[in-house]
Amino acid sequence: APTLRIAPSLLSADFARLGEEVRAVIDAGADLIHFDVMDNHYVPNLTVGPMVCQAIRPHCRTADGGPVPIDVHLMAQPVDALIPLFAEAGASLVSFHPEASLHVDRSLQLIRSLGMKAGLALNPATPLHLVDHVMDRLDLVLLMSVNPGFGGQAFIESSLPKIELLRKRIDASGRDIWLEVDGGVNPRNIRRVVSAGADTVVAGSAVFGGSDYRGAIAALRGEAAG
Ligand code: DX5
Ligand code: ZN
Repeated sequence: APTLRIAPSLLSADFARLGEEVRAVIDAGADLIHFDVMDNHYVPNLTVGPMVCQAIRPHCRTADGGPVPIDVHLMAQPVDALIPLFAEAGASLVSFHPEASLHVDRSLQLIRSLGMKAGLALNPATPLHLVDHVMDRLDLVLLMSVNPGFGGQAFIESSLPKIELLRKRIDASGRDIWLEVDGGVNPRNIRRVVSAGADTVVAGSAVFGGSDYRGAIAALRGEAAG
């Protein structure tokens, strides 16, 4: 089976010790570092921006020195001015919500032109057809299984058939587009999320909610494999 990528969300980490938290979660087996950017405008919460991304960048290395990608999830509006700032700050992937950009195709091109992977983030009520005419501009789709803004919310069950439909579209395109699911993923539902077609999962509270990050990531991988 293809390897499942696990992206712990720093939203549930200890912000006073962010560098240590990043190193701990990488040591525990994280594949990506999910970085949630909230602006109190597109979503009703306020988090961190490019300066904090730049500050964690040196900590995003495995024990043998390999880089661990920073997966930026922009919940901010507008997006275009932020994209070069995150490129400068060392982000590897940038996803944004189509509702937050007036010119989705242009924003996707901008992300790639700066050498990053480009993603669209779809809210629970956002139709899948928003990806239809930009498939060739996408490296990932970030499918939200909660309404964006907060960690620790309950997984919305209607996300499962939506993941299945998106998986079909991606496979039909023949393109290498990641399907990342974000929100409420835990050891009790990850099997269904992965069976429906996710290849990358975000986990905030399921990883940072306890003290054993290695055990938490292992539990996610174990339950995903069945
Ligand atoms: C929610 C964020 C998520 C969040 C996930 O708006 O986009 O990445 O941190 O946290 P959990 O896994 O706790 O739902
Ligand atoms: Zn997120």
